[in-house]
Amino acid sequence: MDKQGPKRYHIITFGCQMNAHDSERIAGILQSKGLTEVVQPEEADLIVINTCSIRQKAEDKFYSQIGRFRSLKQRKPSLKIAVAGCIAQREGERITKRAPYVDLVIGPQNIYAIKDISNLQGRVFTEQEVSFLDEYEYPIQRQNPVKALVNIMYGCNNFCSYCIVPYTRGRERSRVSRDILREIKELAQKGYKEVMLLGQNVNSYKDDLDFTELLIKIGEIEGIERVRFMTSHPKDLSDRLIGLFGELRSLCEHIHLPLQSGSDRILGLMNRKYTYQKYLEKILKLRSKVPEIVITTDIITGFPQETERDHQLTLEALKEIRFDGIFSFKYSVRPNTAAANLEGHLPEETKEQRLYEINSVQDIITEEKNKVLEGREVEVMVEEISDKPDFEYMGRTRGNKLVYIKTDKAISYGTFLNVIIKKAYRHSLETEV
Ligand code: SAH
Ligand code: SF4
Ligand code: F3S
Repeated sequence: MDKQGPKRYHIITFGCQMNAHDSERIAGILQSKGLTEVVQPEEADLIVINTCSIRQKAEDKFYSQIGRFRSLKQRKPSLKIAVAGCIAQREGERITKRAPYVDLVIGPQNIYAIKDISNLQGRVFTEQEVSFLDEYEYPIQRQNPVKALVNIMYGCNNFCSYCIVPYTRGRERSRVSRDILREIKELAQKGYKEVMLLGQNVNSYKDDLDFTELLIKIGEIEGIERVRFMTSHPKDLSDRLIGLFGELRSLCEHIHLPLQSGSDRILGLMNRKYTYQKYLEKILKLRSKVPEIVITTDIITGFPQETERDHQLTLEALKEIRFDGIFSFKYSVRPNTAAANLEGHLPEETKEQRLYEINSVQDIITEEKNKVLEGREVEVMVEEISDKPDFEYMGRTRGNKLVYIKTDKAISYGTFLNVIIKKAYRHSLETEV
């Protein structure tokens, strides 16, 4: 290692699970270069900010964060600042122009550039579609010892009209199935029990295996008890995949299936390529296979041209489908996306009011759906130390619901417990062992 290079790093991560996993890769590279992680950014001589560009609010957070590090760098000129992630890709050199104290800019497709950190002063890496996939054998420094994020695809080809991701993560590429299976086998040997397969649209996975074939192969790996995936695009959710729920032992009874809107007109403007009816049919099929399958979704409120009637259709959809949970967002204009050029952008107050109404309807449903679990026995995997007083551990059900566990025993991570749910709330369940 270069003697002049940084010794202590600190990574700050925004955004989705892809970014969380990219940070685990970055940490792995830095550690194999001899750097150690520090908890406080003030103690670091390399700070990596892994950014998200999905909504304006995420970008604003980044720029306020970076301002903080400017003064840190004034006090400690040897400090290096690297900006990674989707803002890095989108903004590129504009970041170093606006914030000259940034030393390195690396887009999500270029994270391996950080391996040369000791001599990368002032460099910007935003080349598209570099095939970094499995060429570099750096260990991944995973956050959790029993559940692992595993990339199966990179990029996105869908170009939903509101979305920045195809511009930041490039075209869709599937990882070689052999590499994925090898990685998961190694994880199983290390004691991992759960894998979350990552891709913007996992259903279009294609190598020598397709996505369902890949799931079946992963299901054969001994030691992996739970498999989840994210995200599934409704237009590509196949009958074959639906057919695996309840059949494949390791495939958890949970699916995140972003609806975005209950109005066909808005879905059309969003370029989602399905109608509400088509979406509903998939939900009914999933439920006929596994009646209590946990289904979560994403909703965008106040898309351009969304009328009160369109909004009501989304509210009706929530009442009809009764999701276990939703992630709801106010539409945020992303530069250079198709929706940015649409007529009829709505005032902030309208988006806010609609978001409020969406959440009011869903909050009741979410709570009701959790309440059903009170007094029931469920399987929980113990995953980490509790962040809530009076509880010792946190775990998840197969349906991905968070469970707080009260116990006077020491339980190791990755233990499966069959527990009775004592109390259910909107955001969590509670049990005692
Ligand atoms: N690939 C995933 C989603 C990635 S982004 C998928 O297709 O499901 C996660 C969520 O952010 C999206 O589902 C959408 O609801 C929301 N989102 C994306 N772009 C947005 C924007 N410009 N404004 C508001 N919400 C947005
Ligand atoms: Fe964005 Fe649509 Fe791709 Fe998801 S599928 S990442 S929402 S463009
Ligand atoms: Fe993820 Fe945000 Fe990029 S949601 S893909 S980190 S824009």
